[in-house]
Amino acid sequence: SLIVPSVQELAKQSITKIAPRYVRQDHEKPFSLSSDDPSIPSVPVIDLHTLFATDSGSPTYSSELNNLHTAAKEWGFFQVINHGISESLLEDFKREVLNFFKLPFEEKKKLWQDEENHEGFGQLFVVSEDQKLDWCDMFYVTTLPHNLRNLQLFQKLPPILRFFSPSTNEINLEKYLFNNFGQICREKLEAYSMESKKLAKAILGQMAMALGIDPKEMRELFEDGVQSMRMNYYPPCPEPELALGFSHHSDADALTILYQLTATDGLQVRKDGKWVTVKPLPNALVVNIGDIMEIVSNGVYKSIEHRATVSNMERLSVATFYSSSMDTELGPSHSLVTKHNIANFRRVPLEDYFKGFFARKLEGKSFLDYMK
Ligand code: SIN
Ligand code: FE2
Repeated sequence: SLIVPSVQELAKQSITKIAPRYVRQDHEKPFSLSSDDPSIPSVPVIDLHTLFATDSGSPTYSSELNNLHTAAKEWGFFQVINHGISESLLEDFKREVLNFFKLPFEEKKKLWQDEENHEGFGQLFVVSEDQKLDWCDMFYVTTLPHNLRNLQLFQKLPPILRFFSPSTNEINLEKYLFNNFGQICREKLEAYSMESKKLAKAILGQMAMALGIDPKEMRELFEDGVQSMRMNYYPPCPEPELALGFSHHSDADALTILYQLTATDGLQVRKDGKWVTVKPLPNALVVNIGDIMEIVSNGVYKSIEHRATVSNMERLSVATFYSSSMDTELGPSHSLVTKHNIANFRRVPLEDYFKGFFARKLEGKSFLDYMK
């Protein structure tokens, strides 16, 4: 990928116009949607307490599982409440991410993204000089499994991500401070990573129930999945109607958990040809189906295109991507491919799938089409 300027630094220069590289072509320009318009449906909300803590024989359980199934089929996106990640962890993690983006540019520059593995600070998927750029700075890092961590990058993480708040005792420092390699972990990043892995696996388990996938097959795929995080900072934009924070795309992973750190609108989901804003709900998380889960479900679940718009206010989000283990083969679930149900996607080793994905410009669902 090519080196592009930090948008946060650009936005500091009190500019009134954005450079042509950020001005979208007409068909991509965001148009405003009134979220108060009752004719525009909103993304479903799923109560995970009902799925995780009620008897699976009860009618309340079946009805909520059905809501999850419908949301995954028809929207590819939903918000979850009662998800089990504590408010205090969400607050602490948020503070660290905010502090991270507030660091002087000189500090963030030390974490500049790596040509090879795409991790670090910068912008992803920039492959040509004339490509339109996102109004966003991001930090991308592979967090799990531990042996896939980029030790050099982790060692360079600023002390701010190492901050530990003594007021929260929910973290077992002994356990989290050092991993197998003896490297210092960043406690909140670590805790959020662990909790979101647990949550992703639990939701995937419920989806296996709803889809009729053998739970054992699902566990084998996702027990020790690959997790990465993308932290996004969208600075205030002087011409928000011309730019985008994040070009439209579908996610490459199985299941994404998106934490909208600020109350600012920005995330939009494509539903029946319209862009629908996903309003941040306090303490809720946004969950979406990625391409891998569309493939595993043999197309029953849909990985839906989404994008981020910008405004005159800053916005932050953290997307946590969960995929199957690196040594697995990607393809439709064996439980779903039968004599009567043909496979709608090819089978490829997960590693090859990721290599292909990162080599391309991010554009809609073009990569999933390639898997057909
Ligand atoms: C993403 O697609 O991962 C980011 C969208 C957002 O910032 O809401
Ligand atoms: Fe995304």
